Amino acid sequence: MTIAHSDAEFDFNPTVSPHREDPHLFYRAARKRPVTMSPSMGAYMVSRYADIKTVLDDPDTFSSTAALPKIYDNPPEVVAELEAGNVPETTMVVNEDEPRHKQMRALFDAGVSGARVRMLLPLMKQRADELINGFTGGTADLVSEYAFPYVQTIINAVIGFPPEDSELIQGWTDDLTVLWNPFTPVEDRVASARRVGDYTRYLQEQIDDRRANPRDDMISGLVHGANGFPGLSDDYIHNIIRGAARVAGFDTTRDAITATVFVALRNPDVVTMIAKDPIRTITKVTEEALRHDAPNRALGRITTREVELGGTVLPQGSVLLLLFGAANRDETVFPDPDAVDLNRPNVHDHVAFGKGLHACPGAPLARAEIRVALQTLFASLPNLRLAEDYEPTYIASYFFRGLESLRVRW
Ligand code: HEM
Repeated sequence: MTIAHSDAEFDFNPTVSPHREDPHLFYRAARKRPVTMSPSMGAYMVSRYADIKTVLDDPDTFSSTAALPKIYDNPPEVVAELEAGNVPETTMVVNEDEPRHKQMRALFDAGVSGARVRMLLPLMKQRADELINGFTGGTADLVSEYAFPYVQTIINAVIGFPPEDSELIQGWTDDLTVLWNPFTPVEDRVASARRVGDYTRYLQEQIDDRRANPRDDMISGLVHGANGFPGLSDDYIHNIIRGAARVAGFDTTRDAITATVFVALRNPDVVTMIAKDPIRTITKVTEEALRHDAPNRALGRITTREVELGGTVLPQGSVLLLLFGAANRDETVFPDPDAVDLNRPNVHDHVAFGKGLHACPGAPLARAEIRVALQTLFASLPNLRLAEDYEPTYIASYFFRGLESLRVRW
C-alpha cells in the first residue's frame, strides 16, 4: 500500500510508502503548518522543536496516559483472548502521570542505574566479540547478525530473563508490538493475544521466583522495592517488564546502533576519524546519529484542558503524537538539519531521548551499548564498508525508525 502523493504531505502513516522510506517528507511539510490531525494516526502531529518542548515541559496539561495505545482497546475478538489469558493491563512508566509515575520511575531507574550499566560492560564486549567472530564470508547483515542479538542479550540481562529463553521472549514481545499496532490485521492480533496469555504465565513464574529468591536484576527491584520506594503489585510488574523488554529497551537501541554505523559508513571522513580517535569520534557520531535518525518515532500525550499549541486550539482530551525525529531536524534549532555534522555545538539539545519528567532513564545504558558495539566492530573490522549493492530499507513500524538490514563487507 502507498499513500497518494497529494496526501503524503498531510496525512502521516509511517508503515507505508513513501513515509516508510522517508518520514522527513511529511516532517518537513508538517513543521510549516499548525499542529494538524493525521487521519491515519488518529492524533494531532507535533513536529516543531518548540512545540514538542512546550509539551514535554508541561506534564500537567499534556498527560502521558496516552503515551502508548492500550492492548485492551483492540476489537472484541482480540480482547476475549486477552481476558482468557488473564493478561493484566495497567500503566507502566511512560504512560503514567505524577504522583504514581514517581514510584515507578524510581524503581525503573534502579534497574538501569550507572552501577548496573558498568557491571554490564564486560558482557557487552563479550557478546559483541562473539557475534563478530561468528561472521563468515567477509560480509554480514549488521541488523540480524549483530545489533539485534547483541541488544537482546543485554536487555534480557538487565531484566533478569534467563538467556536460554531469549527466543521465546522475543516472539512474545513481537506479539505485543502487533497488539499495539493499529495497522495490523485483526486475525494476526487475535493470534498474538493468545500467545501473550502464555507470556503472562511465564512472567508470573519469573516474578514468583524473584519474590522467593531476590537477585541483582530489574524484576527483583520491582518486586522488593528500590531507591527508597516499596515494590509494585504483580500486574504493574507485568506491564513494566513487558514494556521494558520491547518498547523501551530493545528496538530503540538496536536501531540506534545500526543508524550510527550507517551514518559512519556513509561518511568516509568519519571512518578515518574513528580509526584515529575511536572513543571521541564514536561519542560524537552517536549523538549526531541520534539527532539525525531518532529511533523512537513518537510517543503520545493527551490534553487535560483546552490549550493552544503551535497555532491550533486543542480541545480537552486531544491525543497528540510527539514526532521526536521531526523536532531533531527543525531548521530553526539545527541549521542544515539533514546534513551530518559531528561538530554541532547544540547536538545535545536533540530530543531523541525526550526531555523533562519522562526523559529516557535508559539513555546511559543505550549510549554504553552503542559505544561498545561500535568500538568493537570498527576495531575488529578496520576495512568495514557498505556492501556495493546495499540500499537502505526501513522497518514498517508505528513506534520505531530503524533499518531493516545493514549489509556490510570488509
Ligand atoms: C537509543 C535508545 C533509546 C531511545 C532513542 C529512547 C527514547 C526514549 C524517549 C524519546 C523517551 C521519552 C518518552 C516520553 O517523553 O513520553 C523514553 C522514555 C523511556 N525510556 Fe527510552 N530510549 C532508548 C533506550 C532505552 C532503554 C535501553 C531503556 C531501558 C532499558 C529505556 C527505557 C525507557 C523508559 C522506561 C521510559 C519512560 C520514562 C518515563 O516515563 O519516566 N529506553 N525513551
